[in-house]
Amino acid sequence: MCSPFLSCLSLFLLALSPVAAIWPAPQSLTKDSSVLYLHQNIQVTYNGASMSYIYGYVPSKLTGKEVVQAGVSRTLAGIFNSQFVPWKLHKPHSNWEPDPSQGQKWLKTLEIVQSGQDQPSTFKAGEVDESYNLTLSAEGDVKLNAVSSIGVLYGLETFSQLFYQHSTGIFWYTPYASVLIQDAPQFPHRGVMIDTARHFFPVSDILRTIDAMAWNKLNRLHVHVTDSQSWPLVLPSMPEVSEMGAYHPSQTYSPTDIDRIQRYGAERGVEVYLEIDMPGHIGAVALSHPELIVAYNEMPFWWWCSEPPCGAFKLNSPAVDAFLEKLFDDLLPRVAPYTAYFHTGGDELNKNDSMLDDAIRSNSSTVLQPLLQKFIDTQHVRIRKAGLTPITWEEIPLAWNVTLGKDTVVHSWLGSDSIKALTGKGFKVIDSNYNFWYLDCGRGQWLSWANGNAFTMGYPFNDWCSPTKSWRLVYSYDPTAGLAPEEAKLVLGGEVAVWSETIDPANLDTLIWPRASAAGEVLWSGRRDASGQNRSQLDATPRLNEFRERMVLKGVRSSPVQMTFCTQGKPEECEYAL
Ligand SMILES: *[C@@H]1O[C@H](CO)[C@@H](O)[C@H](O)[C@H]1NC(C)=O
Ligand SMILES: *[C@@H]1O[C@H](CO)[C@@H](O)[C@H](O)[C@H]1NC(C)=O
Ligand SMILES: *[C@@H]1O[C@H](CO)[C@@H](O)[C@H](O)[C@H]1NC(C)=O
Ligand SMILES: *[C@@H]1O[C@H](CO)[C@@H](O)[C@H](O)[C@H]1NC(C)=O
Ligand SMILES: *[C@@H]1O[C@H](CO)[C@@H](O)[C@H](O)[C@H]1NC(C)=O
Repeated sequence: MCSPFLSCLSLFLLALSPVAAIWPAPQSLTKDSSVLYLHQNIQVTYNGASMSYIYGYVPSKLTGKEVVQAGVSRTLAGIFNSQFVPWKLHKPHSNWEPDPSQGQKWLKTLEIVQSGQDQPSTFKAGEVDESYNLTLSAEGDVKLNAVSSIGVLYGLETFSQLFYQHSTGIFWYTPYASVLIQDAPQFPHRGVMIDTARHFFPVSDILRTIDAMAWNKLNRLHVHVTDSQSWPLVLPSMPEVSEMGAYHPSQTYSPTDIDRIQRYGAERGVEVYLEIDMPGHIGAVALSHPELIVAYNEMPFWWWCSEPPCGAFKLNSPAVDAFLEKLFDDLLPRVAPYTAYFHTGGDELNKNDSMLDDAIRSNSSTVLQPLLQKFIDTQHVRIRKAGLTPITWEEIPLAWNVTLGKDTVVHSWLGSDSIKALTGKGFKVIDSNYNFWYLDCGRGQWLSWANGNAFTMGYPFNDWCSPTKSWRLVYSYDPTAGLAPEEAKLVLGGEVAVWSETIDPANLDTLIWPRASAAGEVLWSGRRDASGQNRSQLDATPRLNEFRERMVLKGVRSSPVQMTFCTQGKPEECEYAL
């Protein structure tokens, strides 16, 4: 314990030595070490007009003012309700907390100025200025400047990460004043892909994932909504498809559910877009429309597809075409208000499937390629007519040589050679390199081996994309590595993929977080910092430790980054130097 005031003060400043654990790291940040307290009655203004803090505010429409009003309410509620007393980040019995009895300097005003007008496209892909500037003066004035309401939301998120609750429970403070932040993302597309076909996720799990994405400044939720295993998507024009194709009547998304998910995302700067994977990965349609599908649940599955049950659209079928016309007429007008994209899949189409199609009876590329070209062309015309941009998996142009429209975005998963090949051909690319950003990998095989009692075949039972992608491995990845500058410009960003064969609501959060946070920082802040140096895991670790605590306190069950001994210690107490 320290009694003389001066040594107390110096010890206090030393122990506080602030980390300013903003995640993802802003482009530029300067900070100091004055303490400012936040009052529930802080005066908030938006473009000069006062804005009140209404707990649980839901925007009545998608306009800048409504979205910002809701953002202000979420931000202040997040600070006041999450009870983040950061004892896990300091040595026990050290003197790290400010002493409110030494007097309190209060934050007086939060002045939000949005310089640009929001458009309907503000809430859609890539067409929005996401930058913001945030300053906190030592006198207690906060200024948040942005061009769009989405930029305002990011600034508010950063603002909230400056605050802690005092252990007395009645004060909230930042130890970092004064603060000066300029920030904008490196990549426009910063995503998470979830798979609702291998396991179903209730709407509440998806909304919680959107919340956490918004805290991470991740802005695209890609929902791989159907696959051969199940079809949870309700189509009012063809209700039989989900009636027969869903795992259970409770495991479906109604049009209201889809609207709610997309709307919830749009209010938080997260664009939700759907994928209906085709012409492979579509077996579940056979349960209601067997005449449209070949090779449904064909065995042994590995001759016909990558995992059971198999099933692909017939490639030369007027009935398939009529089905897709009806499907897109039903679905696309409903999703288009909230997204610029529709993903038509196209991965892992097995050439053998068409051998079982009476109209084709071939597995030769020469026969199949023109049929696939026509199939993709027809579907992409429909996507564009609905005002959307098509996305396909990389096999469509790279393995099948299908010619795609110049607007088409290609989603890559097979790694760096593919990114090079695709950008070399002039495609815009979304990167989900499975060696780094497949979060389901490395937890063991879910298929059983046929000689079950010997435990020899397949030993030690790894999955195809082992090892686990730890957050450090996720963080090490540079989506533009090895690309020429003009190729790098075509990389829109990336998505971490959460294929859900062995992921359901019980482990969703721990599987995604904090590893998606690591990808989020690469995509927002860049793999390298302002001086061109690789971002360091030594810098990232304490910040991610802190950010993980914030996520848990706000209801997302993120895995821990390090044990409490490490989060409480000096970083060098938990380092290797081998
Ligand atoms: C942030 O500040 C920089 C430097 O003054 C300025 O160029 C930029 O336009 C500002 N950004 C916003 C969103 O106000
Ligand atoms: C197609 O089936 C044959 C067996 O008939 C198998 O040997 C071959 O590997 C299969 N091709 C693919 C791409 O799976
Ligand atoms: C095509 O089918 C033949 C006969 O089953 C098989 O031997 C061959 O491996 C198949 N080709 C491909 C590319 O799967
Ligand atoms: C696509 O083109 C490549 C290179 O020209 C060739 O090796 C491959 O066989 C082609 N694939 C198909 C399905 O035509
Ligand atoms: C930066 O990180 C990459 C991996 O993303 C690595 O290959 C490279 O050697 C690192 N550069 C330096 C200077 O450490």
